[in-house]
Amino acid sequence: MNSIVRVKNVYKSFGGNHVLSGASISFEQGKITAIIGQSGTGKSVLIKSIIGILVPESGEIYFRDRELLSAPEAVQDEARRHFGYLFQDSALFDSMTVEENIAFPLIETLHMRDRNEIRAIVREKLEWIGLPGIENTFPAELSGGMRKRVGVARTLALQPEILLFDEPTTGLDPVLAESINDLIVKVNREFDITCILITHDIQATFRISDYIGFLYNGRIEAEGTPESLGDTEHPILRRFISNSFVEREVEGCRDT
Ligand SMILES: Nc1ncnc2c1ncn2[C@@H]1O[C@H](COP(=O)(O)OP(=O)(O)OP(=O)(O)O)[C@@H](O)[C@H]1O
Ligand SMILES: [Mg+2]
Repeated sequence: MNSIVRVKNVYKSFGGNHVLSGASISFEQGKITAIIGQSGTGKSVLIKSIIGILVPESGEIYFRDRELLSAPEAVQDEARRHFGYLFQDSALFDSMTVEENIAFPLIETLHMRDRNEIRAIVREKLEWIGLPGIENTFPAELSGGMRKRVGVARTLALQPEILLFDEPTTGLDPVLAESINDLIVKVNREFDITCILITHDIQATFRISDYIGFLYNGRIEAEGTPESLGDTEHPILRRFISNSFVEREVEGCRDT
């Protein structure tokens, strides 16, 4: 297996709250890997540790062959330039237009100055996400699904090798959620970007992921392809999966 990111034996606690206690998982290059698990188990903490927003107490995090936690800051910064991420709330700047939002990392991170070049990139990304011509609108004028798309456009502008999505479909209705899931697959296929996905949407996870890790009690308790996890013997994972499907059905009944 050709892993691009590897998390090994990572520990992270907050006070007496031991969130990650020996979490290990590999993310294969060019694949979609999902981390599933109950709310509050540390999925976001794991992602934030990978991108360097949180610093684990111990463990190793590799980008290709390079261990990052023990590396000099300059090496960590360089490695993390290859990562893009979409936060739980997509985190657009409300006071900026869509164009300014997407241009922001181009100017701040890539130090681009040519306005025409920036404008062309913004236009191209908006076309790619299926929302051409919305340059001058403000985030507040967009639906939740559109904001997520703009968030994706903004991260794509930096041409990342790895994209991390934290709950990209939470709070969206099923149709919009579906369109975001399709967008993740498109990002993965068309740009060959490795995708790391955290989601509550178990059905979608099993459909679009190549590989799934189940986070429980601070560790990856079970992992495998959707096929192999679908008939897992692991009692807690089994219960987690079947509960998720029941919840979905209840939601479906409410909709109709
Ligand atoms: N910066 C922080 N300071 C203190 N505690 C934190 C911090 N970040 C996360 N935690 C704690 O770590 C635990 C795991 O949080 P995390 O956000 O990773 O859960 P999660 O699996 O992403 O849940 P959800 O599915 O609800 O998003 C929680 O108990 C949370 O309170
Ligand atoms: Mg979370």
